[in-house]
Amino acid sequence: MARPKIALIGAGNIGGTLAHLAALKELGDVVLFDIAEGLPEGKALDIAESGPSEGFDASLRGTQDYADIAGADVCIVTAGVARKPGMSRDDLLGINLKVMKSVGEGIRDNAPDAFVICITNPLDAMVWALQKFSGLPTNKVCGMAGVLDSARFRHFLAEEFDVSMKDVTAFVLGGHGDTMVPSVRYSTVAGIPLPDLVKMGWTTQEKLDAILQRTRDGGAEIVGLLKTGSAFYAPATSGIEMAEAYLKDQKRVLPCAAYCDGELGVKDMYVGVPTVIGANGIERVVDIALTKEEQEMFDNSVNAVKGLMDACKGIDGSLA
Ligand code: APR
Repeated sequence: MARPKIALIGAGNIGGTLAHLAALKELGDVVLFDIAEGLPEGKALDIAESGPSEGFDASLRGTQDYADIAGADVCIVTAGVARKPGMSRDDLLGINLKVMKSVGEGIRDNAPDAFVICITNPLDAMVWALQKFSGLPTNKVCGMAGVLDSARFRHFLAEEFDVSMKDVTAFVLGGHGDTMVPSVRYSTVAGIPLPDLVKMGWTTQEKLDAILQRTRDGGAEIVGLLKTGSAFYAPATSGIEMAEAYLKDQKRVLPCAAYCDGELGVKDMYVGVPTVIGANGIERVVDIALTKEEQEMFDNSVNAVKGLMDACKGIDGSLA
């Protein structure tokens, strides 16, 4: 049987890391697409030349031609610009919306059966626009944010409790921005919810609140340190986790930006929610009940995403 084909649209920091991880994990053959001449070809060749030492079987190639993504099983989209210090994800909207139009059309015309994972920011609005521009079914287009945000939350919690991060589960809902909602009630250490751990004296409410804020600011913290761009190792790892769930029909329960049709009170838009990812793409949005306080925070986040969608509609009339 032929290997799966993985098309990476955007061969920058995240795209290159995605290609490396996909090859290391032997998820399939990789096509790196970018408008920058030589960049995808150079990264593809460099990673391919690591194959003999690493011992993976995967072919890698770079291209500027959308025809080369034909028949892709998975497309991961990182094309666009990343933020610099002082910028919010929302500042990227105008320029990245235009990029989503060309990428959406390229996928529509060449890889209409692919499972599409968008990583380009501002994430929730970009994945919504990408689905519209591509015309692919909503269950086949989603956005990577929740896996990354919850991985950051898990990392901070594991450090605070001095336990393995394997045993820390965390849950982040809402848009991938300042209004994201890390859920305390649904985050646990080996099944013990965070509020119980506060009662048990494992941490204090103050420290937990600081971790919640650090999670919300997780992307900005890295931008501030790197100064020349934004995070890429953890975002790429998160995207690969979602791609693997699809390719191997793992039925993973992962938070991601998914199309909601009434779930969690959200209609006809993309926002971060718990989902099941398997061979049918987003197979289910897990329609959890929120407390009044959680619902208020979630609604606030949903409204922030709606504001960005309206801004997109103002820029591109075809989205209205
Ligand atoms: N088509 C294809 N590729 C494009 C296009 C386009 N229309 N426009 C830009 N690109 C390419 C750039 O040439 C660059 O190589 O997208 C790549 C983006 O790479 P980086 O600038 O290194 O950005 P990266 O860190 O990978 O982040 C990409 O993901 O997390 C988000 O906020 C981040 O929106 C950003 C995206």
